[in-house]
Amino acid sequence: MSKNQTVVVLDFGGQYKELIARRVRECAVHSQILAGDTPIQKLKEIAPIGIILTGGPHSVYKAASPHTVKELFELGVPILGICYGMQLMAYTLGGEVKPCGVSEYGTIAATYDDPKCALFDGLKCETTTLMSHTDFVARVPDGFRSVAHTADCPTAAMCDESRKLYAVQFHPEVERTAEGTKLLRNFLYKVCGAAGDYNIDDVIERQIKAIREQVGDRQVVLGLSGGVDSSVCAAILEKAIPGQLTCIFVDHGMMRKNEGDEIERAFKGKSLNFVRVDAEKRFLSKLAGVTEPERKRKIIGEEFVRVFEEESAKFAGSFLAQGTIYPDVVESGLTTGAVIKSHHNVGGLPKDTKFIGLVEPLRYLFKDEVRALGRKLGLDETLVSRQPFPGPGLAVRCIGEVTKERLDILRDADYIYREELAKAGLCYDQFFAVLTDMRTVGVMGDGRTYNYVLGLRAVITSDFMTCEYAHIPYPTLDAISSRIVNEVKGVSRVVYDITGKPPATIEWE
Ligand code: XMP
Repeated sequence: MSKNQTVVVLDFGGQYKELIARRVRECAVHSQILAGDTPIQKLKEIAPIGIILTGGPHSVYKAASPHTVKELFELGVPILGICYGMQLMAYTLGGEVKPCGVSEYGTIAATYDDPKCALFDGLKCETTTLMSHTDFVARVPDGFRSVAHTADCPTAAMCDESRKLYAVQFHPEVERTAEGTKLLRNFLYKVCGAAGDYNIDDVIERQIKAIREQVGDRQVVLGLSGGVDSSVCAAILEKAIPGQLTCIFVDHGMMRKNEGDEIERAFKGKSLNFVRVDAEKRFLSKLAGVTEPERKRKIIGEEFVRVFEEESAKFAGSFLAQGTIYPDVVESGLTTGAVIKSHHNVGGLPKDTKFIGLVEPLRYLFKDEVRALGRKLGLDETLVSRQPFPGPGLAVRCIGEVTKERLDILRDADYIYREELAKAGLCYDQFFAVLTDMRTVGVMGDGRTYNYVLGLRAVITSDFMTCEYAHIPYPTLDAISSRIVNEVKGVSRVVYDITGKPPATIEWE
């Protein structure tokens, strides 16, 4: 989609490929992730201004490991190899890669030995880097020189300036490498000659043009959940094709307190057709008596599709819009061939659909770019910076049977929890209350109570794949617990979840 200068990130199985691509974009250069074995011809067609080879958990000497061809390094395009990418560059060009005497894991002191190397321009020579490797470059290929070292790694970086080939054994893309982003910026601007022509305003303009060309004067239907992706998708579509968009919000009755109304307020009255389907009773009757978490999810998922199909059937002959974002596409293996997890929303239009095509305006954007786009489009900050919320909603935070009465208890407690955190000026990456199915004895006034235990969860995470629990100060926990037990009928005890992920997950179900 882009006519910007592009840097291609070639994926050799490294866990940081998305982070590399995001860092490049943060430096105002468009990036694209492709499989490590992308044909040279395809790279020529893309004509990137630079190529970055990612790390990966392999050893270049193993036949089954991903390899590359010499022609990659003969394209005349600047290349930066990172970790395994460095070893691959050395190996392919005739250097020697060996197992380390001492493997390096973690934050390691390093010295940039040659301040004249463009990568290190303006950087401190004595620095710290994130290392994670068991092989190292024992001999650099002809034409290269070693330009950095650590106590256990004689070649922590190498370069051949005449061919514009650079490589680092450490990970400049992670925060634990001091000045890592500056190093990447040096590669982009001082080696690749980047113009810094990628910015969110251009993305908006280009997407609006693309949407108009694709849709013409036809209608578009979008399933709106109120999450960041679908909200931003609605906002850009409204701007591109005012009057041609219908947003269907299936209210399954398992949103947080006031949330359904907030979503309605945010979108009603705009130049789009907002349809709120009140399906609470329908979902709750399907969930009656069900306590098993996976069954709950399945029932809600299936019912959701059914309700959406019924509502959208009125719009046969329209386009279907989806808030698919770039990590969904990358994780589904559509760019690299390696499936991490399949996403229901990236497989294209289902067969026997009444829709005539898919519109996916966020398909090339990372989450932080989607949020930036939302802000530019004037979406309310509460929508743009919204925490992730599971599709099955509060059903998976209501352990045991999901009933209206129990959901209301959970909603009230969760509201107080959020209110007290805000009052204390605290904000974590994700926080919520969980209603357990356990009752315990309590005493209120002179009477005995026998009510539910409520769990509180607050986590610190950037990727939601791992997390630490947040250290909420005791006085705030006191205030939350005391208000919940006093104000929410049905809760007699409050507990705080102090488990990280792994071994626990963020949600309780
Ligand atoms: P877990 O519980 O697996 O959650 O540690 C990781 C992140 O994913 C969110 N989550 C979901 N999001 N549909 C979603 O869109 C779901 O079914 C779902 N389940 C969990 C969870 O809130 C956390 O941010």
